[in-house]
Amino acid sequence: MSNVTKIYFSPSGTTKQVVEQIAGNIGQDGEAYDLLNFNANKIFSSDDITIVGMPVFAGRIPKTARNRLEKLKGDNTPAIAVVNYGNAHVTDALLELVDLLKENNFNVIAAASTISHHSIFDGVAVGRPDSADIEKINEFAKKCQEKIETGESLASEIPGNRPYVDYKQLPFVVSSDETLCSFCYDCVSICPEKAIPDDDPIDTDLDLCSRCAACISICPEDARSFTGEAFETKKPAFEEANSERKEPEFYL
Ligand SMILES: Cc1cc2nc3c(=O)[nH]c(=O)nc-3n(C[C@H](O)[C@H](O)[C@H](O)COP(=O)(O)O)c2cc1C
Ligand code: SF4
Ligand code: SF4
Repeated sequence: MSNVTKIYFSPSGTTKQVVEQIAGNIGQDGEAYDLLNFNANKIFSSDDITIVGMPVFAGRIPKTARNRLEKLKGDNTPAIAVVNYGNAHVTDALLELVDLLKENNFNVIAAASTISHHSIFDGVAVGRPDSADIEKINEFAKKCQEKIETGESLASEIPGNRPYVDYKQLPFVVSSDETLCSFCYDCVSICPEKAIPDDDPIDTDLDLCSRCAACISICPEDARSFTGEAFETKKPAFEEANSERKEPEFYL
């Protein structure tokens, strides 16, 4: 069995979960590159098998994740590209990820869009990926394994448009409740944008913050959350509009 290298940016953990699920079907556990904190140059060899997972942020892969992924190069290295989204829209994110991996000399053999719990609007896609998703992901991984053995590249067309949709900064406030905070500083350590000052985890620089939700997900005291009028107003309509279950899509 080959070693499988996992590469992901996963602020609230579901993209990592999907990547690990695919990896577990394909080969022995290799290295993991968590792009929330890994930000360095690296060249992978043609013997590596990589699984690259990105969440969808407003129809794109997150800008910071893209900047960090740009530093990872292949040498005709097999790659499985996965975008993980919150049951709303993938838009151009999977196309962008596949394009970037190809530009960086990875041999993309397969791609997927999977659905997970929405990391901002927590009433959408609750409990996903669920057992039905996992079953489909396992089937996909087995087909990927066959393609790795035969050396075939991705043949299917990936939906999306070029140029990709413009980046969009969401207007929601990320705030911290001082009465709940235990000053563990986990949020400071995990923030990929350095938007939470080292000496004051109650503060958030909203000009730097990408609204990625990593700090909210990691906070052991549930002290951090999306707040504000824009968020409260948007939440019910967004949850209603995206309540119908979408299914993962696989491209071989
Ligand atoms: C800033 C931001 C923008 C998002 N934009 C989209 C989107 O355009 N479409 C969608 O379906 N989900 C969107 N989501 C939801 C995430 O893609 C989804 O929850 C994903 O599972 C998060 O992955 P993670 O658990 O690895 O962080 C967005 C989430 C965030 C934080
Ligand atoms: S402060 Fe903003 S950018 Fe930093 S982890 Fe929290 S949501 Fe993400
Ligand atoms: S992770 Fe939560 S409890 Fe820890 S410092 Fe940040 S806000 Fe406070």
